[in-house]
Amino acid sequence: MFFDNVIYRGYERLLTGEIRKHRIPRHIAVIMDGNRRYADRLGIVRNLGHTYGARTTEWFLDWCWELGVKQATIYAFSTENFSRPKPERAKIFEIIAKKLDELADDPRTHERRMKVSAIGETHLLPAHLRNAIRRVEDATCNYDGIHLNIAVAYGGQREILDAVQDMARKVRAGKLRADEIDESVVSRHLYTNGVADSDVDLIIRTGGDIRTSNFLPWQANGSECAAYFCAPFWPEFRKIDFLRAIRVYQMREHEQKQSALIRTANMLAACGYAEMGDVISHLRGVTRHRHPGQSR
Ligand code: IPE
Ligand code: IPE
Ligand code: MG
Repeated sequence: MFFDNVIYRGYERLLTGEIRKHRIPRHIAVIMDGNRRYADRLGIVRNLGHTYGARTTEWFLDWCWELGVKQATIYAFSTENFSRPKPERAKIFEIIAKKLDELADDPRTHERRMKVSAIGETHLLPAHLRNAIRRVEDATCNYDGIHLNIAVAYGGQREILDAVQDMARKVRAGKLRADEIDESVVSRHLYTNGVADSDVDLIIRTGGDIRTSNFLPWQANGSECAAYFCAPFWPEFRKIDFLRAIRVYQMREHEQKQSALIRTANMLAACGYAEMGDVISHLRGVTRHRHPGQSR
């Protein structure tokens, strides 16, 4: 156990060092899945899975802060989750409200100037949770250090529909012209409105399922964000999993840059710059052998 820990810490330091040399994603979104399966595996009551999951969320925010991530969006409760049994819903809402209260009082929130916003159909939530949301939003509304969006009672299609209806009302009232509606106008009508540049760079899903469950469909596709699906359940998600997710983002960025360069070189070669053949072979070699974080 002791040696496992030593090796783990060493690997964590190594990965952190490698990752810091490359671009850190500005906006990370996470589908925190697997709380109940984690509890089932341990043979404990399922609600404890949600409690342990909330602890991971707190660590996740520390990791984002340490690496300089500017915005984190966490999927805490989907509109589909309203179909879960009432006692489970009540427990989840209780945990979220408690965590929001703690966030409002936590000195780290204020040192980091963390702005907290809830996104979703919050009017569907019980009053005590709506109050907790209001308290933390009010306490942090002037901050601009790191932005935390908590997706609660959130559904991606609903978010787009609400935006469409809102814009349609404005068009009817003569406040918006239909031909003015472009990507930026739609973005401004989403729940994430007010957040500078809400496009997601990296989406992480724990718990082994490879789907995005109606999470941020607009914000994740605008930038064609990287996706990292991993097996650990959310309560057991560790910092090295987080770092690996960032490495996947960096590798993808690197590949995109390289393929853009290769395309340009191909084009120049096609235009008669003969020496471009050598450039292309060289670039292909770089792409194959030098991913960020790989040992050289
Ligand atoms: C994610 O874990 C938390 C919420 C959806 C609220 P789950 O509760 O979905 O746990 P699993 O995926 O069933 O194990
Ligand atoms: C995704 O988990 C939503 C959240 C993490 C809040 P679910 O367990 O609800 O999603 P599905 O049902 O597997 O898509
Ligand atoms: Mg689940």
